[in-house]
Amino acid sequence: MINIDISNALPFISSKELSAIEEEIKGHHKLLLAGTGKGSDFLGWLRLPSLISKELITRITEDAAEIQSHADVFVVIGIGGSYLGARAVIEALSHNFSLLNPGNLNPHILYAGNNLGEEYHADLLGILDQYSYSVAVISKSGTTTEPAIAFRIVKEHLENKYGKLNIANKIIAITDARKGALKQMADKEGYKAYVIPDNIGGRYSVLTPVGLLPVAVAGFDIEKLISGAREMQERLFSDLSPSTNPAMIYTAMRNVLYNNGKTIELLVNYRPNLFYFSEWWKQLFGESEGKENKGIYPSSASFTTDLHSLGQYIQEGVRDIFETVLSVENSSGNLNIPMDEKDADGLNYIAGKSISEVNKKAEEGTTLAHVEGGVPNIRITVPQVDEETLGQLIYFFEFSCALSGYTLGVNPFDQPGVEAYKKKVFSLLGKKGY
Ligand code: PA5
Repeated sequence: MINIDISNALPFISSKELSAIEEEIKGHHKLLLAGTGKGSDFLGWLRLPSLISKELITRITEDAAEIQSHADVFVVIGIGGSYLGARAVIEALSHNFSLLNPGNLNPHILYAGNNLGEEYHADLLGILDQYSYSVAVISKSGTTTEPAIAFRIVKEHLENKYGKLNIANKIIAITDARKGALKQMADKEGYKAYVIPDNIGGRYSVLTPVGLLPVAVAGFDIEKLISGAREMQERLFSDLSPSTNPAMIYTAMRNVLYNNGKTIELLVNYRPNLFYFSEWWKQLFGESEGKENKGIYPSSASFTTDLHSLGQYIQEGVRDIFETVLSVENSSGNLNIPMDEKDADGLNYIAGKSISEVNKKAEEGTTLAHVEGGVPNIRITVPQVDEETLGQLIYFFEFSCALSGYTLGVNPFDQPGVEAYKKKVFSLLGKKGY
């Protein structure tokens, strides 16, 4: 189970402020569970872990097995909430060099439609020339430009490679139940399709087929992912105390810090394969809270890498940052630093220690230095990174994000600002009606 430690943030705030906000959050918790707060028509994610049907899991598992049996590569086409959750889980659980690790992943998961890089997509087609592959095209609206372009290109490639009449069984569409261009194409062309429920927004959709299908195809256990989320759901629903409910603790602390001028939250990890988990988290909080000229700016850093680039700023720059560290207790490997007779690099003082032990000391030392430098620190600990703990973390952050949005006084489930740039781009591209 995850654990939250706020002892290194408490010195930066007053206990009076904390108690006041805790009282408020109790009300938001009630509102959330009752489904009577802002944006309540988008609460499909709230009870999702306990409601996912056995039939859906079986269907996803069977489709995944079928894809695994014939595809070397699985292309996941999607952007934002239709992409980040799957990638966060897959990268967190994968071998760090999976592309070069024969037999490790079958199929390899590649991503498309998450950018407009021409070289990126041209390189992808070059790879697809060489391997057998299947595709998932994921878009709730079914009209998002980036995945639509990528799908058009990949579909043409599939047709050229396998023949127009042989591609329907290589495409799975994950989209709205009724509307959007993708839904119409899926119906017309006879693609297999999964539904993204109406009442679940993109950034809350990782535990729907949007995340579950790619994760299952990558070979990971979606039942464990869901059961982790379900455990967290039960815990966060039943614990009504703001001093023990971890989502209430996190919400209270980050909002008091925000009220005290800490307007940037840095989600910190100490392992490279959590990089995309932070990307998912940034979308979740950024799109949920950043509105009405308010909101904590969600940022992230991967330590110790970024200590050698951002470290100076974090230590001594503008004091508007707080850190939330995603701390992992146990490491799966046991790679020790070897003894060297000559000790030319002076490292013998740590010979025999594992890299994880050194990494833990780096985490402890960095926290001490940053707290001393005026950066409050919240630590969220998981025993290890696996499907179960990732499920717990996903649900923990989703629930906290909803509570935080209510605390800030915004609707955490809409994203009116995302449309602004799209309108400008469409107008520049000459799209009808813009
Ligand atoms: O959270 C959101 O609503 C957005 O980030 C969307 O997920 C993203 O724009 C992709 O949208 P769609 O799934 O409609 O293609």
